[in-house]
Amino acid sequence: MSRRTIWSMLSLVVVLALLLVACRPTPTPTPAKKQLEIFSWWTTGGEAAGLLKLFELYNQKFPDVEIINATVAGGAGFEAKPALKARMLGGDPPDSFQVHMGHELIDTWVTTGYMEPLDDLYKQEGWEAVFPKGVLEIVSHDGHYWSVPVNIHRSNVLWYNKKVFEANGWKPPATFDEFFALAEQMKAKGITPLALGDVGIWASTHLFEVILAGTMGPEKYKGLWTGQTDWNGPEVKKALETMAKMLEYANPDHSALSWDQANDLVIQGKAGMTIMGDWVDADNLAKGFKDSGWAPPPGTKGIFIALSDTFGLPKGAPHREQAIEWLRICGSKAGQEAFNPLKGSICARNDCDPNLFGPYLKTAMDDWAKDAIVPSLAHGAAASESWVTKINDVMTAFVTDKDVAKAQAGLAQACKDAGVCK
Ligand code: GAL
Repeated sequence: MSRRTIWSMLSLVVVLALLLVACRPTPTPTPAKKQLEIFSWWTTGGEAAGLLKLFELYNQKFPDVEIINATVAGGAGFEAKPALKARMLGGDPPDSFQVHMGHELIDTWVTTGYMEPLDDLYKQEGWEAVFPKGVLEIVSHDGHYWSVPVNIHRSNVLWYNKKVFEANGWKPPATFDEFFALAEQMKAKGITPLALGDVGIWASTHLFEVILAGTMGPEKYKGLWTGQTDWNGPEVKKALETMAKMLEYANPDHSALSWDQANDLVIQGKAGMTIMGDWVDADNLAKGFKDSGWAPPPGTKGIFIALSDTFGLPKGAPHREQAIEWLRICGSKAGQEAFNPLKGSICARNDCDPNLFGPYLKTAMDDWAKDAIVPSLAHGAAASESWVTKINDVMTAFVTDKDVAKAQAGLAQACKDAGVCK
């Protein structure tokens, strides 16, 4: 083949290649996939079941939206809250995040200017008519609404294993004296009286809030958060003494366990009771445990220590439009009726159908309507996050040294530091 022929063949190949490229149909740009990133700490069986149900409802309505489930494990958000703070302060907010109603929402995120008000959404959805007045007040600040409550949880529940109680002829204790008498009987049988899982310490603070309310009653308990009740007074001292005594009856490995692992001890009959919020109902449901009994912990009959999980709209949410639709579902009747029976909570709305709920939750609904409602400390309702952190620090020392005087001085100081006590 002559050099000339080779050159003309090569040129032909080049021309053909160019023609091919030129004739290729121009690719239509694929539209960016719509996304929605939801941040929470709901990772245990019952928690995740509720969350996934909400996602399912969302995707039924918006099948083209990819939901990013941004969870950070750890009960009560003890790992999630610092992770969220890092993201928010770093200018990387999720589209919506779980936040407790009350001080946690208002002090941490609203007064600091991180959230968008949701007044339009409240108006469009008619929420002022379906959320109780007290709930509307707590999600408000400066005349605006700042988040959407998806549920109401109760912190003061004593959970026990009905089979174990029946086999031994035991009854749930109504007073602290009854609690300790029963604890002795359990101990004699080789059963750990109190299951506690306070990894991250919050479950001890939780136990303490329940003991405080059971010791001093609803009015004085509320006064702790407004400066009306003296942290140096005899009731706080008594509550600390009771707590120290209760800790003697807890599983020795409590600081290594989570709340749901503590509940496992009750399910297995290794422990007699656990004092924990009603997300235990969801844990039991997810684990197929049907022999769960419940009662108000000592001294708290007629008191409902309340908290609520809400979702808000951070400024700069990357998928704002999708986030608003998420909030719409969180506040809807359908959303709350689907979520709460799985989550172990009752609706924040007042128009949910009670027949959709299991036996424990039916009693919670009745109690919510008639009990004295007081705010939870461990779950963001009663006090600012910095105050809760100081109380957690006091508890961290107290569960090991059980030094009542030192703990009481620390608690009184924490109230002063919060600017609530003189
Ligand atoms: C609470 C939260 C509940 C539940 C619990 C245990 O703070 O409000 O929804 O998840 O923690 O993780």
